[in-house]
Amino acid sequence: MTQTNKSTEPLFRDFESEKLNLPNRTVMAPMTRGFSPDNVPGEDVAAYYRRRAENGVGLIVTEGTGINHPASVSGASIPLFHGEEPLKGWADVVNEVHEAGGKIAPQLWHVGMTRKKGDMPNEDAHPVGPSGLSLDGEQVNEPLTEKEIEELVQAYAQAAADAKRLGFDAIEIHGAHGYLIDQFFWEQTNKRTDRYGGDVVGRTQFAVEIVEACRREVGPDFPIIFRFSQWKMNDFQAKLATTPDELERFLKPLVKAGVDIFHCSTRRFWEAEFEGADLNLAGWTKKLTGKPVISVGSVGLNGEFTSFSSTEATSLDGLIERLDQGEFDLIAVGRSLLQDPEWVRKVEEGQENDLLPFDKAALSKLY
Ligand SMILES: Cc1cc2nc3c(=O)[nH]c(=O)nc-3n(C[C@H](O)[C@H](O)[C@H](O)COP(=O)(O)O)c2cc1C
Repeated sequence: MTQTNKSTEPLFRDFESEKLNLPNRTVMAPMTRGFSPDNVPGEDVAAYYRRRAENGVGLIVTEGTGINHPASVSGASIPLFHGEEPLKGWADVVNEVHEAGGKIAPQLWHVGMTRKKGDMPNEDAHPVGPSGLSLDGEQVNEPLTEKEIEELVQAYAQAAADAKRLGFDAIEIHGAHGYLIDQFFWEQTNKRTDRYGGDVVGRTQFAVEIVEACRREVGPDFPIIFRFSQWKMNDFQAKLATTPDELERFLKPLVKAGVDIFHCSTRRFWEAEFEGADLNLAGWTKKLTGKPVISVGSVGLNGEFTSFSSTEATSLDGLIERLDQGEFDLIAVGRSLLQDPEWVRKVEEGQENDLLPFDKAALSKLY
């Protein structure tokens, strides 16, 4: 392991923003685990999140959890965010995390066209998307109607209301990685000619309506985090914006709709997003919107998030330097925290040699 030479103090400064305050700059990145039988998060899931809270994670963002729509998730072990049993499970998760002194936001998710017909929990549900196109451009279904879009917006809003009612500290809307909301953002999957399509602003309309509807449900003081990415699950080189100007046009409507914090998903946090400046996607987003931002991507690891392969642990110097310079406000940690629930505490206490490198075997257990 390459030694961290800088003081980790910048990682452990308070984070204060208009609606969300945290004791440090660490966020647990949302990670689908598939340990919720019958789509219900159980005691082991609650204990898994509690363990991270006990060990100092500033904010936990849960794995993606399905809004109330028959095709929102693919799989019987992915937690839902509607219905009595799943919501009871989530209430227990919130209680455990709060008891341990942590904060937590559910990641509200709809997979859109990445779903295959026949997937559980609703085998007959067809995948839905702006133009009925798969990420590879295959026509799989009819485009969503305006009425169906309205119902989807309402399902996100209901989830937001439930999150607040259950005591969550914020919500994160999953607008990244080629899932439903991102399928509206992306030219390749959105060929609509109505107000939900067309230029970059039209393609944000679905997300804008979701954010506005969530805001109406949760009121002015509840934090809404919005996660987006350039990359898609099937195309790591994909771009929604190729210049800062385009990025600004994309972000402006989302700010106006009421997003409080942007979570800018990249696979390597140290990479410049556009030529001519060192800023990463989070850095640009902060500069263009003035909003607090969360960065992410291979923290503490020398292997990027691609095929969930094992990697070595690596120095935190580059991360600390960028945080200290204010390029971004918060840093999400994925695989390092999946592997090692004590990752944050060990970093804070200087136990660098005890950090466990990511081993893909960790994916098959919930510890
Ligand atoms: C097992 C696993 C499941 C993931 N599931 C989600 C998810 O449900 N929602 C999401 O937005 N990102 C998901 N991601 C991406 C992570 O949030 C994160 O952006 C990515 O792992 C890069 O961070 P890392 O390099 O620190 O692992 C997942 C990543 C992993 C490894």
